[in-house]
Amino acid sequence: MMDKKRFPGKPPLLAPSILAADFLKLGVQLGELKDNGVRYVHFDVMDGHFVPSISFGMPVLASVRKDPELFIDAHLMITDPGRYIKAFADSGADLITIHMEASGDVGKDIESIHDLGCLAGLSVKPGTPVSDVTPYIRDLDLLLIMTVEPGFGGQAYLPESDERIREAVRLRDEAGSRCLIEVDGGIKAQNVKRVLDAGAEVIVAGTAVFGGDIAGNIRDFDRVFNPVST
Ligand code: DX5
Ligand code: ZN
Repeated sequence: MMDKKRFPGKPPLLAPSILAADFLKLGVQLGELKDNGVRYVHFDVMDGHFVPSISFGMPVLASVRKDPELFIDAHLMITDPGRYIKAFADSGADLITIHMEASGDVGKDIESIHDLGCLAGLSVKPGTPVSDVTPYIRDLDLLLIMTVEPGFGGQAYLPESDERIREAVRLRDEAGSRCLIEVDGGIKAQNVKRVLDAGAEVIVAGTAVFGGDIAGNIRDFDRVFNPVST
């Protein structure tokens, strides 16, 4: 087994989703993240089957991986993700998250991710009971609570997610698991406090980071993450 990867710092961690990046300027925009203290990249893979849209896959991930300083969190919104775990690990993902609803064998997929030396994440869509993850929670490095229906960037945060995040924290603590709780969808500097208060630790944001001035957007999140120091 290879050395296990590590998260790039302590929570709360901002996880910019490059789904909202300008792909003509991807390298420049990733440089801007790093210049502003962010090494975390959330990489949304959509297959046009588990979710309606199609995004990008292994070749793009391998290009992003050319920068060894970035931490790449591959969110696989694909049917039967087990088929592609090795391909995404080989392309350079640090963390691979599969969907509970898409996997034919969640336990086996988590084990494959770990055997390939990556961190393992499990995600639930808004309609899936959070408690469904209980049998796996001790094996996870990350639990992703979707705060919109997966498939597209730029949607509105679902308010019922607050309670789902709290439930995820409770289940994690009861099980003695050390997984981080990630949230994804509709999160902006203006509403991020509610997910932090509920216990979220890894905060995915696409349009709220890449829309407009990236440095200013990151500063806006930092002000909420560290209210005294900024
Ligand atoms: C949605 C994706 C998200 C998306 C978030 O299916 O998983 O990561 O890019 O985008 P925003 O932050 O724009 O809602
Ligand atoms: Zn995502």
